[in-house]
Amino acid sequence: MFDETAAYYDLIYSNKDYQQEAKDIQAYLTRVYPQAIHILDIACGTGKHAQYLSHHYKVDGIDINPSFIELASMRNPDGQFYCKNMMKFQLPEQYDVVLCLFSSIAYVKTFDALVDTLGQLLKHVKASGYLIVEPWFAPDTWESERYDMLIVEDETYKICRMSHSSREGLISILNFQYLISSSQGIKHHKERHELGLFSTNNMLQAFQMARFNCEYDAVGISGRGMYIARIKG
Ligand SMILES: C[S@@+](CC[C@H](N)C(=O)[O-])C[C@H]1O[C@@H](n2cnc3c(N)ncnc32)[C@H](O)[C@@H]1O
Repeated sequence: MFDETAAYYDLIYSNKDYQQEAKDIQAYLTRVYPQAIHILDIACGTGKHAQYLSHHYKVDGIDINPSFIELASMRNPDGQFYCKNMMKFQLPEQYDVVLCLFSSIAYVKTFDALVDTLGQLLKHVKASGYLIVEPWFAPDTWESERYDMLIVEDETYKICRMSHSSREGLISILNFQYLISSSQGIKHHKERHELGLFSTNNMLQAFQMARFNCEYDAVGISGRGMYIARIKG
């Protein structure tokens, strides 16, 4: 996923307000955990949340895509960014706060993998720390047969991304086709994304099974909701 489109990711998501989202996270942490210093951003993408959070915290990240890790490292030279699979990784440190934003958690696809992945994340949260996870759609909120078009441009590229949504059981499927034009010509890329659909109850159950106490905020930083978890004492 994103293998051939990593270089265009920031332009495609240029309407997403990373700065405000980072501000909201900071405001929340200042309230509940003012002593937080060190953050790990799971599935950090190109490191834009990290960029804004690093004004207040030391931020590291992991992502499965090496191109994203390269971009995140360039954007955040003070952080450590590792190319790792969130479903199975081990870093040398534990963090005050572990984040997994913009629905990245749903790439684990199944409930069992969700519980295992939260177990991996648990190992990286300090006993006093927080895990904050922004979810994807639930089985009853995912809309199949949606088709959308996004058009974005900057001084180098004009991009049209067509998308079509479907589902196979509890897996949501997003098919993207991109037309990317520049002075070099026109490129065409196809991408299929598969993300698990978890209900709020499923999510809360997975956190419980992974030994977290968890609260659900139905709105969160971008309207997708937010799970705020702490390790069971
Ligand atoms: C929607 S993007 C979000 C990226 C970033 N957090 C943001 O807010 O822009 C989903 C991210 O999940 C990453 N990802 C998907 N599966 C992963 C896995 N198993 N381990 C680590 N990263 C993964 C992708 O490479 C991509 O960067």
